[in-house]
Amino acid sequence: TALPGTHPLAAGLTSGSPLVRALRGDRPETLPVWFMRQAGRSLPEYRELRVGTAMLDACLDPALASEITLQPVRRHGVDAGIFFSDIVVPIKLAGVDVEIVPGRGPVLGSPIRSAADVDALGQLDPSALAPITEAVRRTVAELGSTPLIGFAGAPFTLAAYLVEGGPSKDHIRARTLMHADPETWSRLLAWAADVSGAFLRAQVLAGASAAQLFDSWVGSLSRADYLEHVAPHSDRALSHVADLGVPRIHFGVGSGEVLHDMTTLGGERVVVDGVGVDWRIPLDEAVRRVGTGVTVQGNIDPAMLSAPWQVLEDHVRDVVRCGGAARAHVVNLGHGVPPETDPAVITRVVELVHSLGSGRDAG
Ligand code: CP3
Repeated sequence: TALPGTHPLAAGLTSGSPLVRALRGDRPETLPVWFMRQAGRSLPEYRELRVGTAMLDACLDPALASEITLQPVRRHGVDAGIFFSDIVVPIKLAGVDVEIVPGRGPVLGSPIRSAADVDALGQLDPSALAPITEAVRRTVAELGSTPLIGFAGAPFTLAAYLVEGGPSKDHIRARTLMHADPETWSRLLAWAADVSGAFLRAQVLAGASAAQLFDSWVGSLSRADYLEHVAPHSDRALSHVADLGVPRIHFGVGSGEVLHDMTTLGGERVVVDGVGVDWRIPLDEAVRRVGTGVTVQGNIDPAMLSAPWQVLEDHVRDVVRCGGAARAHVVNLGHGVPPETDPAVITRVVELVHSLGSGRDAG
């Protein structure tokens, strides 16, 4: 591996952690659990720190980004940190005019819709990633044997924002470009793959022990379009960390139709270590689709977090029971923590999961 000897995984600090073991296919004595969007508005300490700082400015402030990453690990006792940043950070660093509008999401100054728009995209200067590297270094120094997960946006999800210019429901403009001008589409996705890939690689080299690619909006694609117009670019993004030997997780929402393809990226073999599953299909069904050559991650329904405790507890036990069909299971939500979630509930879910042993004996 090309990891520096001081990297937490190379140095043996995180290699025996439940998260890394589970991603490598092992069943640790305790199931690992973490939550997408565990950092953020559900935490009062986060809301306090963020007062007066715009989202993307917070992402580029190493002390702030590191502290926000650590908050949920300290509070909930989760088995991993997820680096506090955003999928649009690298495209901003590459010169795209993008902001994150509170309550809405990423919004672009001018959408990318033509061949000329794609030609005009700038490259990501590696030195622009210095605040990311610095934030990750500080974070892993505090985390010790708890692994940090680095992440990036998948090319399709990024293109959904780049072409639409902001959040949208069915990504119709993006999918239209894909069919109307496949050559421009392909260049746009290759650009996004390399920018995201460089962002992911910087996090891993600076100390992240796993890498997750978020294809949040993959559910708006047909399987045929996914295979032809998207999967090769996701493969390209993940290839940026392929030589580093860290476990790689691929996550999507509404991904049932393409779940298997997300593990093979269109090829013959499983090429990722973990696949994230949303709340729409039970994990035993997910295992029927992906086989036992990959670890499954998920899939507590985020809507359950505000249900009465007994309803939530039964659901978590059921998720763990269904996850028993997989070679290994990383417990998570099917998507992010809703901002209105009571953080005490999250802590209680962590305690419950940790009381269920390896998951196989949960009944
Ligand atoms: O704890 C974590 O999971 C780490 C941090 C993280 C954020 N964004 C912080 C954030 C991660 C992994 C992301 C990824 C991200 N960003 C995705 C993929 C994951 C997913 O949720 O599907 C997507 C699609 C985005 C784009 C984006 N950024 C959206 C849709 C939003 C929400 C807008 C809103 O205000 O509701 C953001 C903003 C954002 N990213 C926030 C956080 C904590 C909220 C900012 C705030 O505090 O106001």
